[in-house]
Amino acid sequence: MGSVTTTVLCTLALPEPAPAMLAARATLRVQGHIPSPEQLRASLAEGVDALCPQLRDRVDAAMLDAGLPRLRAVCNYAVGYDNIDVAACTDRGVVVCNTPGVLTGATADCAMGLILAAARRLCEGDHEMRAGRYAGWEPEYLLGLDLDGATLGLVGFGRIGQAVARRALAFAMTVIYADEGDPPVAADLVSRVRRVEFEEIVASADVISLHTPLTPATRHLIDEDVLRRMKPTSVLVNTSRGPVIDESALVRALQSGWIAAAGLDVYEREPEMAPGLAECRNAVLAPHLGSATVATRAAMARLTAENAIAALDGRVPPACLNPEAWAGGAPPPLPGLG
Ligand code: DGY
Repeated sequence: MGSVTTTVLCTLALPEPAPAMLAARATLRVQGHIPSPEQLRASLAEGVDALCPQLRDRVDAAMLDAGLPRLRAVCNYAVGYDNIDVAACTDRGVVVCNTPGVLTGATADCAMGLILAAARRLCEGDHEMRAGRYAGWEPEYLLGLDLDGATLGLVGFGRIGQAVARRALAFAMTVIYADEGDPPVAADLVSRVRRVEFEEIVASADVISLHTPLTPATRHLIDEDVLRRMKPTSVLVNTSRGPVIDESALVRALQSGWIAAAGLDVYEREPEMAPGLAECRNAVLAPHLGSATVATRAAMARLTAENAIAALDGRVPPACLNPEAWAGGAPPPLPGLG
């Protein structure tokens, strides 16, 4: 029988320094495309110790079973992990890791960009210019919403929600937030933001920005009923996960004037959009760019590699979501390449 080499599988090629770090510790396999579930199961069955998927790869019980008994870690190249069945991983002794912290600023910047662009109709203006329709300054042309003095309602007040709050405060917005849990609020924000019920945000916010993970409780949190109760002048922004909004209902809301505008970075069925959304001029549409800066993607790559290497070394990874998976003791270190 040939010797077994310690193996890490990345579905898509990660930016440096991940490839260099992983290749120094193990045999690095990169699929280089989004595999079908069958392809990924077949790859795992060939023998993989740590899998580095990204948010489009679904890791469920059947996927894990294809990788057992060798698979010991799933290290998501993302902070969100709704693509991974964490409970199934825990049951099977597989640790799950993500990339918290390193993409907070970039994602908050993206949310703020969407708030500004949607509130001030910048993309509509861009279309007007490119279409040659701008006929000169007019008193009531493409009027939008002042952020100064407007109320921002943040749904979800974790790291990214709080980073958006800081940015919004610098724009002289009033910040309120709702969160299902009890997130620790940073000392610099405690006296500057107010916790309210979700319903108060729906009824009173001028801008609503979503920063909640996708869970059964948050799927379609923003549905037709909520959209109809928002202010007709309000702006809805989503940089979290697409299915938090009922996207077909949002299209109706934008078409019918239930709300004024939306800024979206995520979609219910990416990369597709709900029929009619592309035609809504009052929607600013970005292709899931929240963490898309050179430095942030590199930092995510480093943390993903650190997570995988720790798991191979038999240490609980730095960003481990389920250390209880190894409650019975971490597995032994795997051999290096030497
Ligand atoms: C994440 O990390 O969850 C983002 O959606 C992509 O960076």
